[in-house]
Amino acid sequence: YLEAGSGWPLVLLHAFPLTADLWRPQLERAPRGWRLLAPDLRGFGPGVPPTSASLDEMAADVEAFLDAMEIDKAVIGGLSMGGYVTMALCRRAPARFTGLLLANTRPGPDSEDGRAARNAMMALVRTKGSRAVADQMLPKLLGTTSQRARPQLATLVRRLIEGNSPDGIAAAIAGLRDRPDSTAVLQGVSVPAMVIAGEEDAIIPVSESEAMAAALARSQLVILPAAGHLSSLEVPDDFSEALGTFLQANL
Ligand code: MLT
Repeated sequence: YLEAGSGWPLVLLHAFPLTADLWRPQLERAPRGWRLLAPDLRGFGPGVPPTSASLDEMAADVEAFLDAMEIDKAVIGGLSMGGYVTMALCRRAPARFTGLLLANTRPGPDSEDGRAARNAMMALVRTKGSRAVADQMLPKLLGTTSQRARPQLATLVRRLIEGNSPDGIAAAIAGLRDRPDSTAVLQGVSVPAMVIAGEEDAIIPVSESEAMAAALARSQLVILPAAGHLSSLEVPDDFSEALGTFLQANL
């Protein structure tokens, strides 16, 4: 895991198929009074890849991580897959949340077409490796502005994806494909929640983030201009400012 700052704990969960390094820009901008912790999720980063990586197993790992760090409660959130894991953790252990961050994510499960695309990507990573996954995902992960004006980001994201093992990525693809519907989970959330969307997100349309924010009792929605799916990496100043303002106002 990566860590920065000191004070109240804020746990950040990364997107597929990246690592905790996604959150380095936020760690560098840790708001005063907050301790940021970003673990690698099951299947990602160094080490022996797991044989399975369901979203529920990832959430159980995060719970074990909190236990190991002797953290009882925290603001917990994630981007995309990290958001799915956050929602799975909300289902398992709602008492551990003091607040919630859901960035570029959705509560709903995969569609039939989506599940078929997961199977195709699983076959791709098994036959052609992590690089082929990077080739396929990069155009969707970064917004049009980043693709045009921030070429170094594509290089960074590719490096993070290619550093992950094909077996770990394949295990996570099955977890993503088989994840349950978390819509009802959000309706039970009573802590303050922040929803962040990217105006240029090609994977999660802004309308879905609006619906997700509406389903949460105490939510705030921020739509970041010139940001795609990896909004925290693409517009780190704007993302961290929105997060810092939310933390200061609500927690
Ligand atoms: C992610 O960024 O974590 C993935 O795009 C999530 C997904 O494919 O559903």
